[in-house]
Amino acid sequence: MSRLDNLEYLASADPAGMGEWVAGLPEQCEEAFRLGQEAPLPEAAGVRQVVVVGMGGSAIGADLLRGYVEGEMAIPFLVSRTYHLPAFVSRETLVIASSYSGNTEETLSAYGEARERGARMFAIASGGELERRAQADGVPFCRIPGGYSPRAALGYSFVPLLAVLSRLGLIRDRAEDLAEAVKVMRELRAELGQGTPAADNPAKQLAERLYGKLPFIYGAAPWSSAVAYRWKGQVNENAKNLSHSNILPELNHNETVGWEFPERLTAQIEVVLLRDREDHPKVQRRFEVTSTIMRPHVSGITEVWSRGHSILARLFSLIYHGDFTSYYLALLNGVDPTPVKVIDYLKGELAKV
Ligand code: PA5
Repeated sequence: MSRLDNLEYLASADPAGMGEWVAGLPEQCEEAFRLGQEAPLPEAAGVRQVVVVGMGGSAIGADLLRGYVEGEMAIPFLVSRTYHLPAFVSRETLVIASSYSGNTEETLSAYGEARERGARMFAIASGGELERRAQADGVPFCRIPGGYSPRAALGYSFVPLLAVLSRLGLIRDRAEDLAEAVKVMRELRAELGQGTPAADNPAKQLAERLYGKLPFIYGAAPWSSAVAYRWKGQVNENAKNLSHSNILPELNHNETVGWEFPERLTAQIEVVLLRDREDHPKVQRRFEVTSTIMRPHVSGITEVWSRGHSILARLFSLIYHGDFTSYYLALLNGVDPTPVKVIDYLKGELAKV
């Protein structure tokens, strides 16, 4: 029997309940959509760009959103992950500050710059300094529930922004697509959840293949690339495991050449390909040719195909698969998936400066 089928072990190795947070993503998305529908809106007439400022677990929701709406939004959408804003940000830019804790220094710094430049603003947090400033500045604010790890609150960082963009008329309404995404995740939960034995559970099986290996996660532009980055971050933070992600077709123009050396390391790479039936036909072909080139060098290759009809459902199906896989990998690694002591230490050191 796989260690991952021992439910007592899963409960004792995960005292904060990351497994429940992972499994609860569909319900979180429903609640998050409601929050986004009720949030006060910024003035968006004449907006020429959208910039989301945020870091880590709070920025990834914006990355996913950016990739998802790229084919529809008529104005540029950028995710900025640092202290300073790009020079173009002005009164005609909508700046959305997203910080789960509300206390991330890079996000607060960018928020301050956006205010100085007179940008239209919107803020989202579970509280903290960002909420305090937004309330004091009269910036439209969406409060999301506290008590989660930021990465476990992905629904709360992504879905309200989706609802806000559609209410502002920047993208079409997504209520139906979100309902489908929730339905697809609920169906997947029966397959990927803790109660399903490894013999029938693709996420447990994939975690076992990734155990002791270096996971390389490849997605495609415009949106599964952001999902690949989400997988990488989840493997890093939940499983405390190094990981790498990259994007097709871009990686065919550089990384493909690098699989030869160092041999003792490439042999430890376990590749995960995030596949979607609507990827560009040339990208589909690139996945196949790339697999052929990689296979002799790497430990193994697994394809994970998206499920569902709408892009949103397909995107969430891949996220859900990755969240479960990284959670199971944490338990195989024998680490508590929730705490991220290194991030806490870094934030503490930087706060002293
Ligand atoms: O997953 C994490 O804990 C981090 O990546 C945080 O999300 C990141 O440090 C930013 O913090 P916050 O999301 O509170 O703004």
